[in-house]
This record gives sequence, C-alpha cells and structure tokens, in this order.
Amino acid sequence: MKILVTGGLGFIGSHTVVELQNEGFEVLVVDNLSNTSLNVLDGIQSITGKIPAFEKLDLREKEKVQDFFKRHHDISGVIHFAASKAVGESVENPLLYYENNINALVYVLQELQKKPEANFIFSSSCTVYGQAEKMPITENAPVQQPISPYGNTKKIGEEIIIDVTKVTNINAILLRYFNPIGAHPSTEIGELPIGVPQNLVPFITQTGFGLRKELAVYGDDYPTPDGTAVRDYIHVVDLAKAHVIALQRLLNKKNTAKVETFNLGTGTGSSVLEVINTFEKVSGKKLPYKIVGRREGDITSAYANTDKANTVLGWKAKSTLEEAMASAWKWEQKIRS
Ligand code: WQD
Repeated sequence: MKILVTGGLGFIGSHTVVELQNEGFEVLVVDNLSNTSLNVLDGIQSITGKIPAFEKLDLREKEKVQDFFKRHHDISGVIHFAASKAVGESVENPLLYYENNINALVYVLQELQKKPEANFIFSSSCTVYGQAEKMPITENAPVQQPISPYGNTKKIGEEIIIDVTKVTNINAILLRYFNPIGAHPSTEIGELPIGVPQNLVPFITQTGFGLRKELAVYGDDYPTPDGTAVRDYIHVVDLAKAHVIALQRLLNKKNTAKVETFNLGTGTGSSVLEVINTFEKVSGKKLPYKIVGRREGDITSAYANTDKANTVLGWKAKSTLEEAMASAWKWEQKIRS
C-alpha cells in the first residue's frame, strides 16, 4: 500500500516515514524543503535500508498539487504534516501561516475528495485547547480560540476536515500532539531547528553543547509546584508510532466515525525546571539558565489524558522524559560532531 506523507522530511514526518517503512508500507514523501534538507532521506535510508520515493512539492501551488495527484492515483492514505509551526513567527507573519497551513490542506483535500475513498491523518496540536480548565486534558475539553495564528490554523484545519468529511468519502483522524521532543535512537534523524530554537528542548541541548550562552526560563511565577510552566513532553518515536496505528485503523475500517480525535502525550506533566534537571542528569552537565519574564501567549499547564488513545488505538507512549532527553542530547552531539 502506498502512503503519501506530506512534510515527510520534517521532524515528526521523518520519524513517521521510518515507522511506516518498518511496518512494510510503501512511502511517497513530498516536502517543499523550506524547513528541512534532502539529507534527511539518507538518514531514513540508513535506519530502514529503504529510501522513500520523494518529490519536491510546495502544496501552496494548486496546479502542481493537481498534477501530482493525477500522476499518483494509487495512494491509499495520506499523513499530512506539511505546515509552518513556529508560534512566534506566526504572530509576526500571520498570512504566511494562513496561506501555507490552510491552502495546502484545502488543495490536498480537493484532490482526495475525487477518490472513491480516502484515509487522512491530520497533524494537529494540543494548542487548540488553549489553557484547558481541567488537567489532564481529554479530547472532550473545549477547543478554545488559540492565542497564536499557528494554533488557529490547527483549529481551522480541524474544522475544515470535519466539514469536508461530512460530504465526501474521506475518513480522517485528528492527532493532537502535546510536546514532541527527542530523536531516533540511531541518531540518523532528529530535530533540525533553523536559527535560534523557539522550543525548550533544542534550546537546552544547544546550550548544553555550548552553542547558546544560557537558557532563558520564561517565568517562574506560574501557579505550579515549582513556579515554572508544565507541559507533556512526548518522545517523537512514540508519536510516530501512533500515526501508523491511526492510519491502520482507517485502512482496516475500524473507525467508528468519519472524524476521530486523539490526544497524543505521555499523560505526565513536567515543568521547565524538571526538564532542565533531567537534562543535567542525562548529560552530566550543569545547564546555565536565568529566570526571565513570561513569554507572551504561553499557558500555565497542559498534559494529556491518554485513556482514549490507550483504549481505542491500543497505543501508549513508552519512553520516559529521561529517555527522550537522552536521545535529544545524543542527537545534538552527533550533528555537532
Ligand atoms: C515549552 C515550555 C515555555 C523555550 C509549542 C506549540 C506546540 C508545538 C510545540 C509545534 C514553555 C518554556 C521555552 C525557552 C522556556 N509546536 N520555554 N525557554 O510553547 O509548549 O508548544 O511548541 O509542533 O503546538 O504551541 O513549546 O518548547 O516552546 O515551550 O522557558 O527558551 O518551555 O515557556 O513553558 P510550547 P515550547
């Protein structure tokens, strides 16, 4: 079975391609290479021994998307990662995010609706919950108006999919990620942030390696045990495996609704200081950091209730925060060597 992975050379996409190949799927990757490089293909091949078919494609170009699907009509499923994902950048340049994240989704769905049936996995985010009232967060928690345009594109993307599946033969699963971190244990693929990392873990590993002077901890006055904000940090390989399971659910027609939604996290919340301490433990290094003011738009706490993914998908995150941080540190050392 041929599976299309859009944004398949990105951080989560590349790890998902590996897991798809491990399960025997034939994978076709499209990526516009705006936030990654072709070397990731070699990384995938070093892990699985198979190089996925690849086409450079910018999903914002409607005619090119139409032409692509004309040439590849034997696609059994699509996992859609292709999107811009930097929260801060989305605030500064909202139209870049609305054009990329929404138009690309619409053009892919327009092609899928022409098929007798289509299976669609959407990369969404816990950011759609905003600051949820109750922890841990279930899939029934209300979707709130996300603070950033990035978050809003995920909320709108989910709404588009819900509307489209009502009147087409497309079946979909929305996967709401918490905080993906770490790297493949082989250190052949991992996160490749361009420029100054916006996310906590790559900033920590770059600081640990000496590329950054110190980590700025955005606030220690939150109503949390140690005052720093709490998140659910999930190993990217655990996250990737969940995509394959979700896809198989649709391919095997096990879904009980046209659109199903799952929170993908570990179910455990960790504070920024706990992540720093975990890094120091796995690396043996002291991490220089300073407490500064809160970052605009940050929420206090978000961690997943994973009961639905555990019982319905039969999936559970296996890696601990320590294992995930160790893999992130190993990856940082590898790419700097
Ligand atoms: C985590 C915690 C920061 C950097 C966002 C998106 C989410 C997903 C992951 C794309 C927060 C603190 C961070 C730093 C810090 N995006 N922090 N110093 O904001 O929870 O989630 O990225 O897939 O959809 O919303 O992740 O890693 O930026 O921050 O103190 O230099 O670390 O304040 O509490 P976030 P993050």
